[in-house]
Amino acid sequence: MNINFNFKIGNFIVNKDFIEYNETKCDDPECIKKKVKDFYNRYPFPYLNAFEIYEKNDTLVLEENKKQNMIFEKIVINKIHEKIMKTILASANMKPEELKNKRILDAGCGSGEKSIYCALHKANEVLGIDMSENSLKIANTLKNYLNVDNVHFENLELEKLNFENEFDLCMCIGVLHHIYEHEKVLNNLLKSLKRNGIIILGFYSFLHRIPYYLRKVYIMYKYKSKDAYIKHLKELYKQDYLVINNIDNYLHVYEKAFRITYLVHELEEKGFRIINLNDLKFTNCLRLLIQRKYFFLLAARKM
Ligand SMILES: C[S@@+](CC[C@H](N)C(=O)[O-])C[C@H]1O[C@@H](n2cnc3c(N)ncnc32)[C@H](O)[C@@H]1O
Repeated sequence: MNINFNFKIGNFIVNKDFIEYNETKCDDPECIKKKVKDFYNRYPFPYLNAFEIYEKNDTLVLEENKKQNMIFEKIVINKIHEKIMKTILASANMKPEELKNKRILDAGCGSGEKSIYCALHKANEVLGIDMSENSLKIANTLKNYLNVDNVHFENLELEKLNFENEFDLCMCIGVLHHIYEHEKVLNNLLKSLKRNGIIILGFYSFLHRIPYYLRKVYIMYKYKSKDAYIKHLKELYKQDYLVINNIDNYLHVYEKAFRITYLVHELEEKGFRIINLNDLKFTNCLRLLIQRKYFFLLAARKM
């Protein structure tokens, strides 16, 4: 049975495939994209502690945080990203050692830690793409500092990506749900993979996102303004990445939460086979919900 519906509650629009949250006051793709880009130039993700970003005379200043030893960044990539990346790769039944010799696309790489992690694990070549210039400035500084030459960062909108049969692995983590034209971008990513290539999507799902929406409403009720909440976060956390994580989760200007089976169907229809079918079982989804995972991981192979 195919039931179609579409209704609006405040900034939320609900249809059968996803819940959309849009506070940009735009309804055309270019305008929404610009607001998302402004958001990530102001709050690059995951950003960590290497830089300070502030507004001065109405322009955004990005400065290296001199107090912060860059060695710390390396520790963070090795320790925090080791854990995150192991989970991401496990969704495709992969181990970090299997990154060796692969050509990897990190679509929406942000400040580049995941790309750099893959490069440090001897990938043949990693291409990190993002539309946020400030995120890429951080990525390039980290790359130069850590002296890795098998990773490159490019400033591009994923809507304009034009690769065919190029990559062994494409990671798109925390990105698709901030894209208005997500179908177009998904097609570009799928096309970029070689036969047998693997895509790993990390995205917000209906089920996982609902507790965050409730908290989002509570935050706005309690703090009244975004600035007041950010001030509270800065007092609460010493590490910038914890501040950024909360800003990204609760103060974003545009996001979607997908029905998992909708994306499964999109992938299967385009000739991909889901690798982590087990994770789709309702009990496993529920477990992830209880663990308050940020996003759902879906991995598929091009047949
Ligand atoms: C939450 S961050 C995720 C960063 C990185 N993948 C990670 O997991 O650490 C989302 C990133 O997607 C990028 N992004 C969003 N829409 C994009 C688009 N249409 N084209 C290129 N990059 C985009 C943003 O600039 C941002 O850096």
